[in-house]
Amino acid sequence: MIKNKIMILFVCGIIVGMCSCAKKNETTKISSEAKSEAKIDSLLSVMTVEEKAGEMTQLTLDVICQGKPFDNNKEMVIDKVKLDSILLYYHVGSILNTGTYTLSREKWFELINQVQEVATKKSRLKIPVLYGVDAIHGATYTKGSTLFPQELAVAATWDPYFAEQAGSITAYEVRGSGIPWNFSPVLDLGRQPLWSRFFETFGEDPYLATQMGNAIVKGYQGDDMSSPDKVAACLKHYMGYSFATSGKDRTPVLMPERVLREYYLVPFANAVENGAMTVMVNSTEINGTPVHADYHILTEILKGELKFQGFAVTDWEDIIMLNSIHKVAPTYKDAVAVAINAGIDMSMVPSDLKFHKYLVELINEKRIPMSRIDDAVRRILRVKMKLGLFEKPVSDFNYYTKFGSKESADISYRAALEGITVLKNEKNILPLAKERKVLLTGVAANLLNPLNGAWTHTWQGVETKYNPTDKKTILQAVTDKVGEKNVLYVEGTDYDKDVNTAKALATAKGVDIIIACLGEQPATEKVGDIEDLEMEEAQLNLVKELSKAGKPIVLILAENRPRLIRKIEPLVDAVILAYLPGNEGGRALAEIVYGDFNPCGKLPFTYPKYSGSLVTYDHKLSEERDTKFQMNAFSPQYPFGFGLSYTSFSYADLKINKTEIGDADTLEVTVNVTNTGARAGKEVVQLYSRDDYATITPSVRRLKRFSKIELQPSETKKVSFKITKSDLGFVGNDNKWITEPGSFTLMVENLSTTFNCK
Ligand code: BGC
Repeated sequence: MIKNKIMILFVCGIIVGMCSCAKKNETTKISSEAKSEAKIDSLLSVMTVEEKAGEMTQLTLDVICQGKPFDNNKEMVIDKVKLDSILLYYHVGSILNTGTYTLSREKWFELINQVQEVATKKSRLKIPVLYGVDAIHGATYTKGSTLFPQELAVAATWDPYFAEQAGSITAYEVRGSGIPWNFSPVLDLGRQPLWSRFFETFGEDPYLATQMGNAIVKGYQGDDMSSPDKVAACLKHYMGYSFATSGKDRTPVLMPERVLREYYLVPFANAVENGAMTVMVNSTEINGTPVHADYHILTEILKGELKFQGFAVTDWEDIIMLNSIHKVAPTYKDAVAVAINAGIDMSMVPSDLKFHKYLVELINEKRIPMSRIDDAVRRILRVKMKLGLFEKPVSDFNYYTKFGSKESADISYRAALEGITVLKNEKNILPLAKERKVLLTGVAANLLNPLNGAWTHTWQGVETKYNPTDKKTILQAVTDKVGEKNVLYVEGTDYDKDVNTAKALATAKGVDIIIACLGEQPATEKVGDIEDLEMEEAQLNLVKELSKAGKPIVLILAENRPRLIRKIEPLVDAVILAYLPGNEGGRALAEIVYGDFNPCGKLPFTYPKYSGSLVTYDHKLSEERDTKFQMNAFSPQYPFGFGLSYTSFSYADLKINKTEIGDADTLEVTVNVTNTGARAGKEVVQLYSRDDYATITPSVRRLKRFSKIELQPSETKKVSFKITKSDLGFVGNDNKWITEPGSFTLMVENLSTTFNCK
């Protein structure tokens, strides 16, 4: 009894201690923020107009290097005269990227040290430069870094743990390259499959993208961005960038504000609420207004409604383009006025000093109020302070002993394993027995590039000379697993042309099974625009030819977006979607093909069958009505959330704890999931809801919750979810969220139940 009392007192003591400790931490945070703001006030009070304009200017590294800009073969050597000029005369506040190719960590430190030396020792106000880089799926531009699956493949794990880990390791390796700011994550939704940057998204669903987005931002920034293994995240590309009507990059988006808010704003709003400190702005126009000129989106929504404390940087040359491409400003100088007045804080100029010149003139002419300039500069300085750059402009080279470590590669490998999605497995052809003779063929069979995609060592990721030699292609990983005597290899095709398809067919006749590895040429942005969503003709033809051998075909797809495979799908026995699984993708695919890992990835988007039917899972019922007035017009190649396992699962007992909920109620939903097969496996339990009747036509279903669980054979687990009335709302014509009273349906797998909202 006494012992118990002592125990209770002890526990209470700990709790009180924890509370006062948390309080103390909070107080320390507030006082350090107050100190930073005071320091910003004093800097602002002495900064000249030129210094303020410089702070808002971002240039590419190429501008201060010797030699021709964007020359992939040149060595990046800083031109000291140029460096002094841009930092001491123009007071440039930020520099970005390499412009060329991947550099060693030593080289990065050499470059950044040189920059910070001038900025923090020679300049009048000693303000550190904020260096930013595109570390899209790992430290893209640093040799020997850990390269993760691209975002879409991470989304396919349906496990935010992997997004957080990828963020955390990337942050460590980016800061371990001397760089404190990462232009990631992309929080645009992948709802337009033609878009060249589809692979950079977390898929089509705002809830899934939000969970992944929050997790990766946590991984990047942690609780304290000044720590040596954290960086500032940059949410891209605020907002609506991904849904161009034409499907081409940087082309117009037409979208009512209520749709923008209900779908595209959601992941951004959540990440901002979770402390993300920078956003990069959408390069295109929405409803005729380029977002770089949109006061409503940049100032009223982002800084007003969302209370964003960080800063908004333009995308590449986007102020110039307000004049040259969008034609909303008659001169470049007018474009500067339009953008800064709309709410842009920093311009990724990035190659000239005209922005600086015009900005100074516009301030002096009072065409941009000083209050706007001070607000922009304050936001930039705030991020620099939060990153601890004033105290420590460059991190310690020797701190990063785990850079590119085996442990980090293992996380990338596990993420690849859990994302790769089996979409077809006729007669359980998979997993393959290791003693069967296989032919590996196709452009992705023996090349790392189509597994990594763009933003790998270079911008477009096509060059092979930077590929690490210790990472395995699919061919190498399969050979490691089953031995050379069981593997034959014929290239078959390039990305878009026949190389030796006839030889592949001839060889196929002598094996037991064909593994055809189709791959899309790595590409991003305008370079990745396509005219046709179908997989390249030469690659489709390879599969058609191979089918003449009469052997089972396993199709592996490594692609930037869902290229249509309707014409070859009936010819193959199994389909494995690799997405862009990264450096460890080859190994992961071999594990799955041979059953050493039980696949559990699920599609984070709807895989279309026809280019005339690019419809997402959360479409309207009217989109299901066919020409015969039946409800089967929505028939994608594979549905959202789908993915096969080598075991099977059954669902039963979907229950809710109430049949009616009001504003303050929480609805508990439970369901029993059983592993009915012979192997242990992971399953993603997905809860969807439908508003049965609403004043804005409701979607047929919307993802509300998910949970990834592991089950042993015959094991049953009860999965429970909690939702409230506010989880069920939509954005009305007044652009406000509302949950209308009435009946709702909840769906988990093949089960459903209904309840009422008061
Ligand atoms: C891309 C951004 C990228 C920036 C800097 C732009 O062209 O759209 O996503 O962060 O370049 O490289």
